[in-house]
Amino acid sequence: MATITLGYMPLFVLLYLLIFIQSSSSNDLVNKVCVYNDDPTYCTAILNSDGRTPNADLTGLGEISIDLGLVLATNISNEIIWKNNSATNDPRLTQCFNTCFNWYDTAKDSLVNASDALSSKAYYNMQDYAGSAGQFGLWCEEAFKQPPPRQSPLTTENNNFYHLTQAMVVISDSLIRGF
Ligand SMILES: *[C@@H]1O[C@H](CO)[C@@H](O)[C@H](O)[C@H]1NC(C)=O
Ligand SMILES: *[C@@H]1O[C@H](CO)[C@@H](O)[C@H](O)[C@H]1NC(C)=O
Ligand SMILES: *[C@@H]1O[C@H](CO)[C@@H](O)[C@H](O)[C@H]1NC(C)=O
Repeated sequence: MATITLGYMPLFVLLYLLIFIQSSSSNDLVNKVCVYNDDPTYCTAILNSDGRTPNADLTGLGEISIDLGLVLATNISNEIIWKNNSATNDPRLTQCFNTCFNWYDTAKDSLVNASDALSSKAYYNMQDYAGSAGQFGLWCEEAFKQPPPRQSPLTTENNNFYHLTQAMVVISDSLIRGF
């Protein structure tokens, strides 16, 4: 006739339950978003890199993804300035870096607009702004392929940025329709 109380539960069972409960809500949502991503591994890693993710609902995850996108775009802009400084002997490369720098400036504007749209529950607008932000990252990559072409030194960065915006597009879609 033993009734199970918390006091009788071994500590490891309690810990397991706590971890299980904590991870089931957040990780489920991240996995649901990232399963649609071209790079699920990066998508999952970047979204889980934020301390707010474990307790975030879909709206929260939208804010987190946009915040991360703004940081990533800023990181990439800094990297462009840094790489451009050592490209002084190649005017064509400098041209690409200038183009990319401007695209990322516009991408940041677009993400700020996406964030405003999310705050006012304008999910279709959020989706448009997130989608065009990603497009600007792809155009940066494209700039290096224009003749005379140069090997892009920003392929990983551009891909990562694009994949993060893909997560935002899926999140806004889920806010509109549900999963
Ligand atoms: C931005 O750069 C900082 C410093 O290198 C790094 O710690 C951070 O993870 C980067 N953020 C993103 C979103 O990539
Ligand atoms: C890149 O370097 C050139 C000089 O070599 C400079 O005129 C240009 O403003 C720089 N662009 C960026 C984005 O830093
Ligand atoms: C952001 O929104 C403002 C105000 O509606 C608009 O003027 C601007 O063009 C938008 N920026 C981008 C990059 O979409």
